[in-house]
Amino acid sequence: MNWRLAEPKIRIAPSMLSADFSRLREELDGIEAVGVEMVHLDVMDGHFAPNLTFGPPVIASLRPRSKLFFDAHLMIEEPARYAEAFAKAGCDLLNFHIEVADDPKGLVDLIHGLGCACGVTLNPTTPADAIDAIVDRVELVLVMSVWPGFSGQKFIPDVLPKVEAIRPRLAAHQRLQMDGGVDLDTIPCCVSAGADTFVAGSAVFGRPDPPQAARALLEKAREAGERG
Ligand code: DX5
Ligand code: ZN
Repeated sequence: MNWRLAEPKIRIAPSMLSADFSRLREELDGIEAVGVEMVHLDVMDGHFAPNLTFGPPVIASLRPRSKLFFDAHLMIEEPARYAEAFAKAGCDLLNFHIEVADDPKGLVDLIHGLGCACGVTLNPTTPADAIDAIVDRVELVLVMSVWPGFSGQKFIPDVLPKVEAIRPRLAAHQRLQMDGGVDLDTIPCCVSAGADTFVAGSAVFGRPDPPQAARALLEKAREAGERG
């Protein structure tokens, strides 16, 4: 497994969910050109999350056309069943929801065995201790700041104490990601809470100039990081 994001620094992961689906390749090229390293791929099955998005074929068609790190957020009920298909499609990281994992340790091993980095996600009301058994085995922890399903929802500030609680439990090579309602107004408090990797859908691809919006968000987060 090649964990390319082991170096601790602030990163933006634009979510393709808000992109123009008729121009996905151009959208990816645009954010890569301004220094974005990862793209967030929101996979939904209509069961775990009340929406349907895309699956392995779309990801596989983009893989040869982009060098970005493919961060797959699996909002699906049976991550173990589909992990291999997403690994084969070219995802670099497979991120499952702890709420649906019957055997979290086994799932982490399965994902690592497929050659992918592994992430675990907590819904807004899932407590930090839900990931106790695997927190030292994953490469990334994602704290949701909206309920899974749609871009453009309002940020839930109540999750910030959970981010603060998880931060000291992570080693230097592990990333702490937030997802949902992250924009120029909310990103400073996310940085202050200890997150380092920020998913942004509408705040990047919902803007007239997505690369410029990604750059502005990154700068804002870095400024907040420098202030401590
Ligand atoms: C929500 C998804 C998010 C979403 C974020 O279910 O997991 O990644 O695309 O969109 P914004 O940044 O607009 O909240
Ligand atoms: Zn997501």
